[in-house]
Amino acid sequence: MLDRLLGVFSTDMAIDLGTANTLVYVEGKGIVLNEPSVVAIATVNNKTEVVAVGSEAKQMLGKTPGHIRAIRPLRDGVIADFEVAEEMIKYFIKKIHNNRLFSASPRIVICVPYGATAVERRAIQESAEEAGAREVYLIEEPMAAAIGAGLPITEPQGSIIVDIGGGTTEVAVISLGGIVYASSIRVGGDRMDEEIATYIRKNFNLLIGEATAERIKKEIGSAITLPESKDMRITIKGRSLIDGNPRDIEVTQDNVAEALMDPVSAISEGVKDALEQTPPELVADIMDAGITLSGGGALLANLETVISRVTGVVVKLAKQPLNCVVEGTGRALAETKKPGSILLKNY
Ligand SMILES: Nc1ncnc2c1ncn2[C@@H]1O[C@H](COP(=O)(O)OP(=O)(O)OP(=O)(O)O)[C@@H](O)[C@H]1O
Ligand SMILES: [Mg+2]
Repeated sequence: MLDRLLGVFSTDMAIDLGTANTLVYVEGKGIVLNEPSVVAIATVNNKTEVVAVGSEAKQMLGKTPGHIRAIRPLRDGVIADFEVAEEMIKYFIKKIHNNRLFSASPRIVICVPYGATAVERRAIQESAEEAGAREVYLIEEPMAAAIGAGLPITEPQGSIIVDIGGGTTEVAVISLGGIVYASSIRVGGDRMDEEIATYIRKNFNLLIGEATAERIKKEIGSAITLPESKDMRITIKGRSLIDGNPRDIEVTQDNVAEALMDPVSAISEGVKDALEQTPPELVADIMDAGITLSGGGALLANLETVISRVTGVVVKLAKQPLNCVVEGTGRALAETKKPGSILLKNY
């Protein structure tokens, strides 16, 4: 009874704690928060305090004075800095609660990367409890992505989802509500940005930061060079390695495609490997239904084409690649109320 009452006044939520972005979904409202997973911390007289979280902190990346650090607490899809990650989760949960009149302890479903260790799972769970959650459930990220993308996961039919995030690319083959095969490679959008920065340093003798590299990727990036768009270009600023002065250069799509060759091939080979490990009956289903891509990295232009060429299977982009995981986690939130849910593990 008390539980039911609490349920009425609390904001049950689903959280996609991503390497690049954190999204929060609230039942009946949809996505209420979508912010970069960045925290800015100041150290004054040996004491640290949080100065900014989310978009505000992301704008500080690479631009902070000595006593402030802008940190991305999650790297490569895992928590690199537990304390800062906890601060971030608490901040976001509080932000949502402050916007409400009534708030009791919420029930929270958080997705964790496939293959997260028991220590990492516990850390995520504890952070949510510290932040005031009444009950915490975890769901594996590729399962959430598949639900969010609308794949028929509970059917006796093989579905494959490839979630390309900032830190990792997770490939999962799902049938009858369970993961039949999954793999995670530590290549995603961040690696693409690094490769672009390295390419520009080597070929143009220009030093650029991660924000500029990401902008190049989003604006003119492509997984392959296409004749019709290879001359698309963008002007960027950086610091010359020759004389240390600021300098402008023009980068073409052709340049970016060349820079991205390694990460793009790692991702497509990863998908091919997964298909090779999948039982033949399920492969037959996948040949019919195709491969679905989710995650922000899936927005890299022409990536579907490359994966399709490497695997020989049709590739589709999920409707809203950046929101799939949190939408799927949100749908799982509703499932927690039903008895015998097969989707969630409670740690
Ligand atoms: N239009 C675009 N083209 C290419 N890449 C993009 C585009 N939009 C976003 N991205 C990239 O998508 C990545 C973020 O995707 P997403 O939010 O799915 O990651 P995440 O869930 O935070 O990471 P992870 O799942 O690895 O923890 C970033 O690397 C970002 O640069
Ligand atoms: Mg993600």
